[in-house]
Amino acid sequence: MIFYFSATGNSEWIAKRIAEALGDKAADMMKVDPESFAFCEEDYLGIVFPVYWYAAPEAVLEFSKKLKPNNAFTFAVCTFSNVTGNTLEHFSENAFELKSGFGVSMPDNYPISEVIYDTEETTLAKLKAAPARVDEIIVRLKAREEGVFDPFKAGENPEELTASMPSVFKDDHCYTKPFYVEKDLCISCGICEALCPADAILIADGYPVWVKEKCYQCMACINRCPAEAIQYGEYSKGRYRYYLEKYLPKVD
Ligand SMILES: Cc1cc2nc3c(=O)[nH]c(=O)nc-3n(C[C@H](O)[C@H](O)[C@H](O)COP(=O)(O)O)c2cc1C
Repeated sequence: MIFYFSATGNSEWIAKRIAEALGDKAADMMKVDPESFAFCEEDYLGIVFPVYWYAAPEAVLEFSKKLKPNNAFTFAVCTFSNVTGNTLEHFSENAFELKSGFGVSMPDNYPISEVIYDTEETTLAKLKAAPARVDEIIVRLKAREEGVFDPFKAGENPEELTASMPSVFKDDHCYTKPFYVEKDLCISCGICEALCPADAILIADGYPVWVKEKCYQCMACINRCPAEAIQYGEYSKGRYRYYLEKYLPKVD
């Protein structure tokens, strides 16, 4: 069984490719009960997720902690834009022990960050390169190679990044207050409400309202708004919006 968390499609796409190659199933972890699954030695237990500030999103760790892997072949694949830090090791220490872990560089979906962002050109280049990387991971998974931790790009000082940054993200950056909708652009489609994995958005009088103080900051609402009507303070203004389905048709 392969579980994924995905705001803009990167991790979902990879989870489904891996599941198909292994003759297994892929499930959105936000829609299933982790305690309803049982695993045995022949099974794969894979988790595919985006890197958030050099670690797995909190929702991924919380879900994964509730799984009981027994002696299944456990692995994780993290998708990331620039660098992973020690995401895979951190997962292994904070959720369940991984037998192997991999990283795949994918387009950036964080339009409020000043540090990491892609252009149309680098987005397309990453999408072109990704299938070969995923195929390489599939070969290693089929061989059930153990003890492989291949993040692809851990960056400089990965231990330091992962030891310090996830708590800064969680404590200081997950506030919903800066989110707002430009009412003249909003088409009241309700996609933002339906997509939010934190259930932090409700549609009131036709417009989204952020009803929780904090969310996962997954950026699904900003990136997938068909009218590009959602902003996060001044940070997201004039910045690109990304989701996989928008770009896949452009990759030959
Ligand atoms: C809140 C947030 C934090 C992120 N932090 C990192 C990071 O530390 N390193 C990195 O390379 N990419 C980072 N990214 C980029 C995503 O990990 C990357 O685009 C991922 O493939 C998105 O996957 P998804 O489409 O499945 O949601 C971050 C994105 C978000 C929204």
